[in-house]
Amino acid sequence: MSSRKIIIVEGSPRPSGNSTLLARAVASGARSAGAEVETLQLHKMDIRPCNACDACQESLEKDCIIDDAMKDVYSRLRAADAILYASPIYWFTVSGQMKLFMDRCYALTFLGTLPGIDGSETVEVLHTDLGGKKFGVVLSYGDIDPYVSGAVNAIRTFQDMARFVGSEMTGLVYGSAVAPGEVAENNALMSQAYDLGKALAADAR
Ligand SMILES: Cc1cc2nc3c(=O)[nH]c(=O)nc-3n(C[C@H](O)[C@H](O)[C@H](O)COP(=O)(O)O)c2cc1C
Repeated sequence: MSSRKIIIVEGSPRPSGNSTLLARAVASGARSAGAEVETLQLHKMDIRPCNACDACQESLEKDCIIDDAMKDVYSRLRAADAILYASPIYWFTVSGQMKLFMDRCYALTFLGTLPGIDGSETVEVLHTDLGGKKFGVVLSYGDIDPYVSGAVNAIRTFQDMARFVGSEMTGLVYGSAVAPGEVAENNALMSQAYDLGKALAADAR
């Protein structure tokens, strides 16, 4: 059996930020369970916002027409068994880098109508290339409370996304840390992240 592929999507601009360290712990856990891990550092990538042209919704086969780093990322996401989203909380939700990426994943879904088998009727379709993949989430935030910090908003967004695209939420790891790298002192959280990596590797489709 080929090893499971996990894509880690890092949404922090800090190279050794808290969510990034948690993501690295996830990666270690996943590799220890035999998975192949690839990391996308969104802040270093040329990813433009969705322009709502809806070209990707013209047919099941149509991809996003924006010519940037996402062009290459779509096929890697399609090939992945599991996706780990790692983000700091900025202004009570995910970072801007992460939100741009998530919006552009619209191109991996097709919401529309197709001719029926006999060509006479149309049927409503929701197709998504993210369906069946396992999702994991790690978040870091400055406030000590997940509600006050806004982490719950981000959690809700990821849960809704997973439900909408038919993915299974394997686990969420979130906690408070302010200065870059501070989270490394939180052994319990780092170990939860490591275990999430193992679960994503074991659990991947
Ligand atoms: C622009 C900006 C906005 C932030 N907004 C919030 C916030 O709304 N709630 C919160 O608890 N912390 C907030 N923080 C603190 C970060 O979430 C916290 O430092 C986090 O650990 C950063 O993660 P990172 O090191 O992975 O980038 C903010 C930090 C920045 C730079």
